Parts: sequence; structure tokens; C-alpha cells
Amino acid sequence: MCGIVGYVGAKQALEVVVSGLRRLEYRGYDSAGVAVVSDSVLVTRKRAGKLVNLESLLGAEPLPESTTGIGHTRWATHGVPNDANAHPHVDCSGRIAVIHNGIIENFAELRAELSAGGHSLDSDTDTEVAAHLLEEAVERAGGSLADAMRAVCARLEGAFTLVAIDSRSPDLVVGARRNSPLVVGVGDGEMFMASDVAAFIEYTRDALELGQDQVIELRADSVLVTDFAGNPVEVRAFRVDWDASAAEKGGYDLFMLKEIAEQPKAVADTLLGRIGPNGELRLDLGLPEEALRDIDKVVITACGTAYHAGMIAKYAIEHWTRIPCEVELASEFRYRDPILGRRTLVIAISQSGETMDTLMAVRYAREQGARVLAICNTNGSTIPRESDAVLYTHAGPEVAVASTKAFTTQVVAVYLVGLYLAQVRGDKFGDEVRAIIRELADMPRKVDIVLDTVEPVRELARQLKDATSVLFIGRHVGFPVALEGALKLKELAYMHAEGFAAGELKHGPIALLEPGTPVVVIVPSPLGRSVIHDKIVSNIQEVRARGALTIVIAEEGDESVEAWADHLIRVPVCPTLLQPLVATIPLQVLACELATAKGHDVDQPRNLAKSVTVE
Ligand code: M6R
Repeated sequence: MCGIVGYVGAKQALEVVVSGLRRLEYRGYDSAGVAVVSDSVLVTRKRAGKLVNLESLLGAEPLPESTTGIGHTRWATHGVPNDANAHPHVDCSGRIAVIHNGIIENFAELRAELSAGGHSLDSDTDTEVAAHLLEEAVERAGGSLADAMRAVCARLEGAFTLVAIDSRSPDLVVGARRNSPLVVGVGDGEMFMASDVAAFIEYTRDALELGQDQVIELRADSVLVTDFAGNPVEVRAFRVDWDASAAEKGGYDLFMLKEIAEQPKAVADTLLGRIGPNGELRLDLGLPEEALRDIDKVVITACGTAYHAGMIAKYAIEHWTRIPCEVELASEFRYRDPILGRRTLVIAISQSGETMDTLMAVRYAREQGARVLAICNTNGSTIPRESDAVLYTHAGPEVAVASTKAFTTQVVAVYLVGLYLAQVRGDKFGDEVRAIIRELADMPRKVDIVLDTVEPVRELARQLKDATSVLFIGRHVGFPVALEGALKLKELAYMHAEGFAAGELKHGPIALLEPGTPVVVIVPSPLGRSVIHDKIVSNIQEVRARGALTIVIAEEGDESVEAWADHLIRVPVCPTLLQPLVATIPLQVLACELATAKGHDVDQPRNLAKSVTVE
């Protein structure tokens, strides 16, 4: 939430900062703003609404040339999205500009103190206190912005990334972080600071991963990182394994369409290098095999779409390993006093690696003595860094707010963990594990088939444009798929949509049905677990008998559903546990097309941000 960019080097800072903001806009789009230092004068521009509004302002009121600058794109927490609340915020003297991501929880008392001390605060944000505190601290620190930042951080409670520039130190950008993301990009004679590597990927792929409670002094040719007490600290350098083109639309109208289409490759990349020559799994989890053999409980924690991936994994992990597996919303996890211990493996799933609820769950689990394995897509992010082990999904950057390829790759990654547990512990015979891996390795091809045959879903979406409510039902792993289909529709098409375990419908929700209510039904393979299949075919008939418009997702060749489906969407034959990887794709397309038909901004839906870094 909120995107932050800082630059110092030889280029025009404004160009670098605005192009960085363009790549970070997925983090928030309530307002945008920039500040530069030019001839020892601080100049800012900011505007409510999307970045395009700021760009128009910059066209009308250009900024002077400068090689030091900062920029911000906002997801509002304190104060409505207007020009005054847009970042950067500036101190009374107009010397220091600061941008912020996070929440300063003690801002009200700091604000009262500053107002009583004669400061004039012009916004309703929590952030503005930092500008005025820096103003006071920089005087006390003899003009050192970095010392001032360390002093201010010591007074702040909550989560924050702060980045500031000072007109009296024109070649310096200072950042600080606690519980909120910030990475450094290392260029040749230029340096970058940003919420996410995407902001500087077109200039450099060399980055530094920062730790908690650190202050960063960035000059064109140096980076100095200290703790809040001013002691220098070591940071890990890493190279970003994707390039700028991966974060472009690449000919698609929408990032979401591109990311849906990338799923065959993303799934293949999640598997890449993890299957040995004899078909066995080779995972370098960073956890000793002894510890894996000792596990007596798995707890999966995540939010939103990642939580749905976790729900799916529960079925697989318990089936393959017979280890009890719980799935917990990360936002609830630490508040319910969960039972955790040394033999519990907590799996935290997060695309961004920065979701605050999930991060807090990770910390809580480790405090309780559990081992934490992160499944993550973002190298250099906080959740893997704070976990005992990590398995990266390698899906490449996901820019659209609605998760698509992150979801399918999370399912694959957590399945790999489940199968690896089964392999290491001997819960399954080697040939059984290898047989499932062979099926998994065939999924990129099957996902590709779905993408090739999904055109009728687009047409169907246009027909559903005026529906007021859409229900999704499924059983077994089809239930979380139903939840995911409903979530996609809510967040993109702003429609009432709900997912249900199909068997629960008759216990209440069936009363929602009106003639013509669309009900999307996820039907598992008729092979193998045919009981589930037969039950859900009965559920289709129940809703149809009450006038529902039935949209049925079923396997190729499953004739049993034909009589009850008003619309039939075919997916390739695959085992029930793997079906979510194909059944979710038409639901992603449905939501994307419906939102487009309604004229919504698909990549940046209202009120949302991609990376939720506040609790
Ligand atoms: O980055 P994370 O995977 O931790 O994000 C979790 C959720 O915020 C995320 O999946 C969200 O639900 C998506 N917008 C759904 O499409």
C-alpha cells in the first residue's frame, strides 16, 4: 500500500521518479506526488487521483531540473484522497519533504505536541507529523538529515517506510523502515530506493534487501545503512531475476489479461528445477529433513486469494501425508491463541511477501516456537526474510491488483511442499509421489488448453453484465475455487458474489436464489472421487429447479451435467486435486470480462491496493 520512489544520480530525477511511480501505481492510486531539490530549493507537485492527474499538473507546472527526487502514490488510510492529503508532506520551513507508507499509530499525540509547539499542519494525514518532527530534529542534529531520521523513528509507533529529502543536502535521499517495505537499487553512479524493485528495474537489477528498523543514506555513489541507533549494518545484495519487459503489458490491453495468459509458463516456472531425473522431488526448503519428519501439524496462513490457495492445499496435504492441516486467515491468526509448537510447520503464503496480516502471523508463529515456511513470489520481501525457510513461486511480477498467476503458482508451490513432506516422511511410496508429480508437470499444457478454449466465457460475461448477484458453488477443492471465483467478481466487477460449499446451500443460502440468478458450479472429475461428483450434479439440479441460471464448469467428456447446464464450460480431464489449476481460469476471465463490460478499471479496482501493508 502506497508506492514510494527515491532517486539520486546523474539523470533527471523527475523522469526516473515518475516512471517508477507508473510501475508502483498498483500499490495505491488515491493520489500521487513528487518532490525534487533544485538549486537548494525544494519543489513539490501533488494531485488527488491517479498518476495521470499528477502528470497533467507537471505538464502545466513543470518542475525545475534536478538529480535528486522522491515520489509517492497513495492508498489512503488517514484523510480522504484529496490534494492536501497527497504526499509528499513538507515541514513549516519548506526545507524537508517526506513520503510515507504505513500507519504512524501515535500520530494524534505527536500532532497535538507539534501544534502546541507552533507547527502548522495542513493535512489530515498521520504522515505530516514526520515532516515537522524532522524539521525539529534536523536542527538538533546539526543539519544531518540521517541523524534526524534516526531520532524521529525512535519516536514513531506503528509501521512506516519514510523517505525524505532536504534542500540543504541536495545530493542525499534518506529512508527508514519498520514493518513496511523498502529496497535499494544499486546503479552505476546512481541509486534508487523504492517499495518494490519494479520501480527501478529499467535502470538496474542489482538490489539490496533491507532489514527491520534501519535508516538508509543514499548518495549517487554510496549507500550507508545503519540501525536506528546509528550503528552500520550489513545488508544482503541480490539480483532481480526478471527484467523490465516482465513488468510491461507486452501488447495486452490489461495487466490482468497478460497475467492470466502467462499462467502456463508461470506454473512451469514454479516446477522448474524442482523435479529430479528420476521424477522425484528436489526441494531446497532450508529445513532439515529430520525436522520435516518430526512435524505433527501443518498450519497454513494467508489472506485473500492466497488464503484460497491454502484452503485447496489442506485437502492435498492431509490426503498425501495424513498430517492434520489447518488453514487460518492471517488477519485472525494471532488473535485466536492458536495451538502451535516446535513440531508445527506454519506455511505462510503471500505473493508480495509484504502483507502485514501475514507478516504478523509469521512473527507470532515463530514466537510460539513453530517453524515457518514462506511461499512467496517476491525476492527481497519481508515475509521470506523473517521466515525459517522459503519456496519462491517464480511467477514473475504480478501487477494487476487481482491475483491470477500468483494463485495458480501458489497452489503448485504448496502442493510441492505437501508432496515433498510425503516423500521425505515416506507417507507415500516413491512411485505414488512420482505419479502425482507427472500429473503436475502436465498442468502447464492443460492450463494452455483452457486459455485456448475460453472465448465463450467472454461472451457469457457480457450476458451477465446486468446480474445483481452471482453465486459460486463447489465441493472439496471446488469449494475454495468457488470462493476465489466470487472474490474475483467482487473486487473487479463490484457485484454481489458469494462462494459456498455446495452441500451448505440447502442450509440457508439457497433462499438467495431468484429466477435467473446465475449460479456457477465447479464440478470435479467423475473419475475416482465420483461420490463428490454425483452429489454436486444433484446440487446443480436443486438450484436449477429453483430457477437459477446454471453455469457449469466440468471436465471434457462428462456428459452427466449436460442436461442441467444452461452454460457449459469445459476444462481438461485431471485428478480432482489438480482441477483448481484449470477450473479457476474461466472464473478469472469471467470477472475480468464482466468488469470490462461494466467499464471498470480492471487493473486498479476501486478502494483496493495490491500489497496490503497495513493491518
Ligand atoms: O501479497 P499477498 O498474496 O499476501 O496478498 C494477499 C491478498 O491481499 C491478495 O491475494 C488479494 O486478495 C488479491 N487482490 C485478490 O485478487
